[in-house]
Amino acid sequence: MKATAIAPANIAFIKYWGKKDETWRLPVNNSISMNLSNLTTTTTVEFAEKYAEDIVIIDGFLSLADSSNQMRERIVTHLNQVRELAGIDLPAKVVSQNSFPMETGLSSSASGFAALTVAAVKAAGLSLSKKELSILARLGSGSACRSIPDGFVEWHTGETSEDSYAESLYPPEHWQLIDLVAILSVKRKQISSTQGQRLAETSAFFNTRLERIEEKISQLKIYLKERNFPGFGELIEAEALELHAVMMTSRPPLLYWYPETVALMQAARSWREAGLPVYFTVNTGHNVHLICEKKDVDSLEEKVKKLDFVRQYIINQPAKGARTVKQHLF
Ligand code: DP6
Repeated sequence: MKATAIAPANIAFIKYWGKKDETWRLPVNNSISMNLSNLTTTTTVEFAEKYAEDIVIIDGFLSLADSSNQMRERIVTHLNQVRELAGIDLPAKVVSQNSFPMETGLSSSASGFAALTVAAVKAAGLSLSKKELSILARLGSGSACRSIPDGFVEWHTGETSEDSYAESLYPPEHWQLIDLVAILSVKRKQISSTQGQRLAETSAFFNTRLERIEEKISQLKIYLKERNFPGFGELIEAEALELHAVMMTSRPPLLYWYPETVALMQAARSWREAGLPVYFTVNTGHNVHLICEKKDVDSLEEKVKKLDFVRQYIINQPAKGARTVKQHLF
């Protein structure tokens, strides 16, 4: 009863921010994302009598079973869902390895819960459809449901748990987009997405956002279909700024950006004015995703390398969704 899965993080072009049902993680709006080839989590799960209790090891660190450890709690709750579905009562050992720094706005909860879902389901001897896996991953972290299907993905908000899941809009080959993730600091954010989203409705701009979101989604889908990069880029950049406008006007306000975040946004705009088509997007955190087409990635990389405040960068292509692999981590 042991299995391993790898799952990509994803970058949302239309963001998920605000839940209409917190327990079931039902979002207020649909969201659209792309899976990222080089931001991944690999997770091995084994259910066995020999473990006295659930053991959770993330990036080499053992998560202790004290009440202050929220991530361990979320993982154990998720394992309980799988145990219930499979009708088993065995403790589990979970070992998880991220290819990138956690909790810095790079969606480690998306790749983490997608990999955990696929590995735990297989280890428990269940066989679920992609839709069922997406629903289950969503219960761990909303954005994780988008890391199950391949390539470019839409999450349908749904009215109940059974119809809130993500589906592939296009396979990874549809468009050679690049997401250069610039890591400006590996400091963990102080307010998680789950906590931050609880404040969404306190922003005076939240309803205005929702009034216009469907039109925005339809427009984005057209740009995506036609591979219209300038239209696409303008829209996703405005969407990221709108998300942060809602965050900054929540009560209490959320300000995730660092001076370096703004500096890189300004740099991207100046590169664009000088003829390099590149746009930015930012999630809950300070690190910046720079989006360009593959033909421009070398020029972009050259520019990013010259910025001394960029500590590290990771170049991603569109990727397949979560899948099992043969090699276990323990
Ligand atoms: C800004 O999926 O991390 O990255 O469901 O509470 O775990 P929970 O939230 P999470 O929120 C992601 C927020 C976002 C936008 C997005 O990825 O769509």
